[in-house]
Amino acid sequence: PPVHLQMEGNLGLEQMKCRAKGGSAGFKVAILGASGGIGQPLSMLMKMNPLVSLLHLYDVANTPGVTADISHMDTNAVVRGFLGQQQLEDALVGMDLVIIPAGVPRKPGMTRDDLFNINAGIVKTLCEGIAKCCPKAIVNVISNPVNSTVPIAAEVFKKAGIFDPRKLLGVTMLDVVRTNTFVAEVLGLDPREVDVPVVGGHAGVTILPLLSQVKPPCSFTADETNYLTSRIQNGGTEVVEAKAGTGSATLSMAYAAVKFAESCLRGLRGDASVVQCSFVASQVTELPFFASKVRLGHHGVEEIYPLGPLSEYERAGLDKAKEELAASINKGVAFAKK
Ligand code: NAD
Ligand code: LMR
Repeated sequence: PPVHLQMEGNLGLEQMKCRAKGGSAGFKVAILGASGGIGQPLSMLMKMNPLVSLLHLYDVANTPGVTADISHMDTNAVVRGFLGQQQLEDALVGMDLVIIPAGVPRKPGMTRDDLFNINAGIVKTLCEGIAKCCPKAIVNVISNPVNSTVPIAAEVFKKAGIFDPRKLLGVTMLDVVRTNTFVAEVLGLDPREVDVPVVGGHAGVTILPLLSQVKPPCSFTADETNYLTSRIQNGGTEVVEAKAGTGSATLSMAYAAVKFAESCLRGLRGDASVVQCSFVASQVTELPFFASKVRLGHHGVEEIYPLGPLSEYERAGLDKAKEELAASINKGVAFAKK
């Protein structure tokens, strides 16, 4: 049939449940905000992922075109498109993993927090749908400001009585991807050989790369540490300024989101030792949410690792990060409780 007929608008919830259960081996993944700058390359890369059997593309605009386009790729995953709020529930039923890149991006001169007024409501509505239709799904939150949208999601899930902290993960993977790239540049290494934990959150000073824990082990001069920390904390702004009003990071973000989603799926599959950094409900610090290394497994986050030994520079950075993070978390919680 013509591919636009694969849009699932006419199917009822029960029919969707049957279809979703009947998919071939592999995981069922929904992308909310699939037509956007991140959503499109993310959808394409997920369609290429052999762990995915069913890919649901949801947006409030343009999903028929994106779905038609991506569905012609000769890979395993079946692709279905869903358009508009009235199709949100159909998009979500039966999903194992939901990835959320919906929402507005920054323009030059804006902070991520300037996006709060629009994106907080979008994330809240989408999470209400998740709570109703796939309460056991793993949720990857990309929409900014992540430091607030993850607490909003948690509050929505608590209100619905389904909150499982192991299943809610803020995506900070782009910070790790950038850090590995910039550190490799300084060290003259292949970025694929470099692994650096990035903890805290996902905005400005809350992004705290632990350069004292770089693998392979190495040491930096004070100038190198300052340069790298500042470049990593401002990596998003570097892209926003280069794009000059047309948006923020989309391609590197889609790459990072797929790397992170694949780790979540490998965890669900039962692979051993799948470890990534993520902004999650945490007891690593006194804050209720914090990004650090987590081990991913059958239920999502199975283990949260402590920060490990920090340099004096990193301890000072941690204090600054916690101050801003506390305010962003409280803002998100207050919004969701309103
Ligand atoms: P974009 O404007 O290109 O795309 C956003 C998409 O969301 C659009 O297709 C839009 O139609 C859709 N959308 C809007 N409201 C929606 C709703 N209620 N339900 C479903 N879809 C909806 O933006 P983008 O560049 O893809 O960025 C998306 C978000 O990701 C922004 O908030 C941005 O700041 C954030 N982001 C986060 C990271 C990170 O590291 N976590 C990195 C880059 C961007
Ligand atoms: C990023 O880090 O690239 C994203 O959070 C987008 C932004 O606004 O910087």
